[in-house]
Amino acid sequence: MSTQTILEVSGLRAGYGGVPVLHGCDLEIREGETVGIAGLNGAGKTTLLRALSGAIPRSCDRALLRGDRLPSRPDAVARLGLVHVPEGRKVFPTLTVRENLRYGAVAAGKAGGAAREERRVLDAFPRLAELADRRAALLSGGEQQMLAVARGLMARPVLLMVDELSLGLSPKAALDISAVLARVARTQNLSVLLVDQNTTLLGARCDRGYIMRDGLAEPIDDAFGHDTLSAAYF
Ligand SMILES: Nc1ncnc2c1ncn2[C@@H]1O[C@H](COP(=O)(O)OP(=O)(O)OP(=O)(O)O)[C@@H](O)[C@H]1O
Ligand SMILES: [Mg+2]
Repeated sequence: MSTQTILEVSGLRAGYGGVPVLHGCDLEIREGETVGIAGLNGAGKTTLLRALSGAIPRSCDRALLRGDRLPSRPDAVARLGLVHVPEGRKVFPTLTVRENLRYGAVAAGKAGGAAREERRVLDAFPRLAELADRRAALLSGGEQQMLAVARGLMARPVLLMVDELSLGLSPKAALDISAVLARVARTQNLSVLLVDQNTTLLGARCDRGYIMRDGLAEPIDDAFGHDTLSAAYF
């Protein structure tokens, strides 16, 4: 397996209205690996994903995606293959499942080949194929989360960042959706960054992990084993 570095970030700083949240965060993700980030509420996990995807301004010593400088504008970041599935899903409620999927491709400048990608994604998530013409507002929470992940895949990412996949889902639904994502990641050699409070999910799916604390991402040795979590949370 290749060990090419996909994302290399050091000294990342970001915050809101002059209030810093990230204080010089380092993060590295290699090709094909799934990396997890856990951390207390308000630790800065979502802020990290926003800063990487260009949704909020950032400064850093170094931010490279496949060796190229990570752009600051969200559309340019998505075009380069770093795609963010936001916390709370944010699917378009009045659009159908299929229209939401198409948007995922168009937003990343990948309209060409979208029909083929849509077939792949609907093969991976057969439940979405059944719901293809239903408006997203009428989907259950779990189905909306499938749609949000599938929409992210439509952008043909090299690195897919998923914020709180498990939010509001039963443990089984979260494991099932992340299993589909893991299968797709394996076949496409896709790298995945899972930010989640559900450390059981992270332990089941991640090759490596970080704990977000005091605006920094600290690497952990045991992928979300008991000792690390006790130290981080209690
Ligand atoms: N839009 C915003 N404006 C101002 N402050 C914000 C904004 N969003 C988040 N913050 C603050 O930034 C800090 C980090 O928040 P962030 O959402 O990154 O945490 P998190 O680790 O994702 O938490 P959670 O696990 O609850 O999702 C918190 O103190 C939060 O109050
Ligand atoms: Mg968050």
